[in-house]
Amino acid sequence: MQALRLGVNLDHFIAVREARHTPYPDLAEAIRVSERCGADGITLHLREDRRHVQPRDMYLARRVTGGSLNMEMAPAQEMVATALDVGPDFCCLVPERREELTTEGGLDIVAHRERLREVIQHLTDAGIQVSLFIEPDRKVIDVVRGLGAPLIELHTGRYCNLEGTQADIELERLRTAARHAADIGLGVNAGHGLHTGNVGPVAAIPEIAELNIGHAIIARSLIAGLCQAVGEMRAAMDAPRQS
Ligand code: PXP
Repeated sequence: MQALRLGVNLDHFIAVREARHTPYPDLAEAIRVSERCGADGITLHLREDRRHVQPRDMYLARRVTGGSLNMEMAPAQEMVATALDVGPDFCCLVPERREELTTEGGLDIVAHRERLREVIQHLTDAGIQVSLFIEPDRKVIDVVRGLGAPLIELHTGRYCNLEGTQADIELERLRTAARHAADIGLGVNAGHGLHTGNVGPVAAIPEIAELNIGHAIIARSLIAGLCQAVGEMRAAMDAPRQS
């Protein structure tokens, strides 16, 4: 089976910086650490409300990223203009609502078909590979095929929020959708809500080429790095009293 790519989403890393408008934590360092430790790509979602990623982060990520850069964005004019200027390797088109905590569902492909077709064309002409973030639904996948995007990203959020038999049913939807998309020639990525406790069955779906994971990685890094951070502060405080 082909190796599964990991796209590390650093939105929530940037959210810590934006909470205080400090120069730290440093995005360039986060990109380098992520890549050194197993990320094949970096994903950033430039939201209209700018709650975490800022346009300057996209440009910096473009300069620093050694692997691929995936820009998540709504199919809005402003975002398309930024994407064309930044030149990410991939753009993942997502729905966006101001009041949402995170991307809450897949794109409504049917309602926005013409707009999506136009945006996909613009981005593709600039050499950017476009993926569409969608629910694992055969009918939606069939509509995607006609829009000109080579990739889909299956929304795993529902699977992640369910338990037991309900989660198994949703997992089966993901498997069926991935198989169907691959059969009709689409590349398949997936993501949303994944953590080390639930990623296994999704990672085992053979048609999936890449998982995009953010919140759980950043949340875990807070615990994994807390001891070192406290130790560094302890040392910085103690040093002036030791003379
Ligand atoms: N894929 C898409 C399209 C997303 O919108 C998000 C959230 O920004 C993710 C993946 C990553 O989700 P999470 O942060 O829950 O891992």
